[in-house]
Amino acid sequence: MERQTVFTLLDVERTYELGKAGWFGKSRGRLKALDGVRLELRRGDSLALVGESGSGKSTLVRIMLGLEPASDGRVLYGQHDLGQLDPAARKRFAREVAFIYQNARGSMNPRLRIADILAEPIRLHRLRPEAEMTGRVAELLARVGLPAEMAERFPNELSGGQIRRVAIARALAAEPQVIMADESVAGLDVSVQAQVLNLLRDLCREGGITLVFITHDLGVASYLCERIAVLYLGRIVEQGPTGAILGNPRHPYTRGLMQAFPKFGAPLTAPLKGEIPSPVNLPQGCRFAGRCPEARDACRETDPVLAEQAGRQVACHFPLEVAQ
Ligand SMILES: Nc1ncnc2c1ncn2[C@@H]1O[C@H](COP(=O)(O)OP(=O)(O)OP(=O)(O)O)[C@@H](O)[C@H]1O
Ligand SMILES: [Mg+2]
Repeated sequence: MERQTVFTLLDVERTYELGKAGWFGKSRGRLKALDGVRLELRRGDSLALVGESGSGKSTLVRIMLGLEPASDGRVLYGQHDLGQLDPAARKRFAREVAFIYQNARGSMNPRLRIADILAEPIRLHRLRPEAEMTGRVAELLARVGLPAEMAERFPNELSGGQIRRVAIARALAAEPQVIMADESVAGLDVSVQAQVLNLLRDLCREGGITLVFITHDLGVASYLCERIAVLYLGRIVEQGPTGAILGNPRHPYTRGLMQAFPKFGAPLTAPLKGEIPSPVNLPQGCRFAGRCPEARDACRETDPVLAEQAGRQVACHFPLEVAQ
């Protein structure tokens, strides 16, 4: 049976008008943070978004959460345009699609006890009667590996790892169908990171939750997510099954990212050469050509489109060979 489509993105663009600067009020131009993104997410999918800083990962997630509109293209949640949900559907969306903030501590009211922070979404969406609240809070804390006593504490009485787990528990409190997370495990110590990753993985594999996970860590991406989308300057340059893509990257940028990724026992990595062009003045042709070791004349002239090949989608005129 075809799994139900949760999100469909059709040629989504996001441009930012940069404010006027200087005495003459000259506009600093328009920045293209997302440029023609096509993406389909089905129920139970787990998708990692990877790419260098500034490639548009957070912008893409903000648009899928409806926190900001696309400048062009369409974002569908199920069958409905995200920008045109009526108030009731909007409320349902807010419960069904949870976001785990990068800055967990900053996203919590410092004056509330953890118990009330976790109870807030439950009360808002009337998911449990008040009599069951204490039990439900303890259950949520246990789910993220925290003792029930934590419920009495305030956010500033918790460590960085503990507060991130509370942020995940709060996302789960709403009983969501989709979880989006921006760098949620970066900077956690390895044992806490493993615990959080295992929890998210179980939620996807057993709970049928759809996950969109932004990470700079390709190891985390491959552990957690069955699919991966590699972004470069606002565009998806390669996407498909994580194993196939990290096992045999076809886009030179994906290979470059993998070579730049530190590996145990190999202290020297090969950083990606060159500067990322400015998203305000995108070059003609392939936007990666200036940094690409494989670039030829055609790459500087025409912009490659995302096309199906070798079990994934790649936007490259001269994709790398797949090793046999
Ligand atoms: N509100 C804004 N106004 C202008 N430009 C913005 C705005 N938000 C993001 N940008 C620009 O859009 C591009 C994409 O930003 P985004 O935050 O999505 O990148 P990212 O991939 O999440 O990076 P990082 O890995 O550093 O978090 C960047 O060039 C950024 O400077
Ligand atoms: Mg970001």
